[in-house]
Amino acid sequence: MKYENIHTSVRDAVAIVTLNRPKVLNALSHDMMTELADAVDGFEADDAIGVILLTGNEKAFAAGADIAEMVEKTSVDMYMSDHFARNWERISKCRKPIIASVAGHALGGGCELAMMCDIIICADNARFGQPEVKLGVLPGIGGTQRLIRAVGKAKAMDMCLSGRTMDAREAERAGLVSRVYAADVLEVEAMKLAAEIAGMSRPALYMIKEAINRAYETTLSEGLHFERRLFHAAFAMQDQGEGMRAFLEKRAPEWTHS
Ligand code: HXC
Repeated sequence: MKYENIHTSVRDAVAIVTLNRPKVLNALSHDMMTELADAVDGFEADDAIGVILLTGNEKAFAAGADIAEMVEKTSVDMYMSDHFARNWERISKCRKPIIASVAGHALGGGCELAMMCDIIICADNARFGQPEVKLGVLPGIGGTQRLIRAVGKAKAMDMCLSGRTMDAREAERAGLVSRVYAADVLEVEAMKLAAEIAGMSRPALYMIKEAINRAYETTLSEGLHFERRLFHAAFAMQDQGEGMRAFLEKRAPEWTHS
């Protein structure tokens, strides 16, 4: 598939996907999300890729779903096409780690897309928000659900009901993002983090991601049980023996991802 709304590249084991509709601050269109889903399909199936890095430009990660594309839709249109399902959610179903590297606006669907990723890091000019209330609607792809889990009820309600944005420092304090960098070094730092994670044992990464995500869906005792079973299963992996032996032999591990 030839992409018109995103750009993709590969550096070693890191796949970089750049949202690319700069004239509309990377507003998320149907075509863009189809391309994004196709790119994730390809990179998830590619054994050479360990991590996907999703990014925008210095002004915007994404300023939300494309309002022009939605304005004339009816409720029946939205319901029958199950708008915002499938390709719009593809990122959240990927088993490989995905890092969102955010500079500038991450609003509405843009904030929701970042929250579908596993880690959000951002530039000091980043702004996060769910301003849908100002359009007479509400978040439609996880804003009311993932935001509360990231920042708690008080801030989630505040942001969704008032439509206000959070700056990078508040987002870091609140737990929405894990790291904040000066805007001019974000790209380099994002690549460093992605490469570091891509250098780990793939099956261990998959297990960790699956176990953490399970915490959203289950009770503590079930989650602990699930984690312990995965931990036991990890001892069937060559990478477990290699990782532990490498530590004791004071050398770098050589993962076989098996
Ligand atoms: C379509 C958009 C857009 C969007 C910006 N643009 N956001 N087009 N959909 N979400 C377009 C503008 O119309 C404008 O086009 C160009 O991008 C530059 O935007 P400006 O507004 O001129 O820039 P600025 O003054 O710097 O303001 C930046 C901004 C503002 C604060 C981010 O653009 C803004 O408030 N955008 C909308 C944010 C929003 O409401 N997002 C939620 C969308 S609903 P022209 O042609 O005039 O140059 C949503 C629902 C999610 O996301 C449901 C699940 C996905």
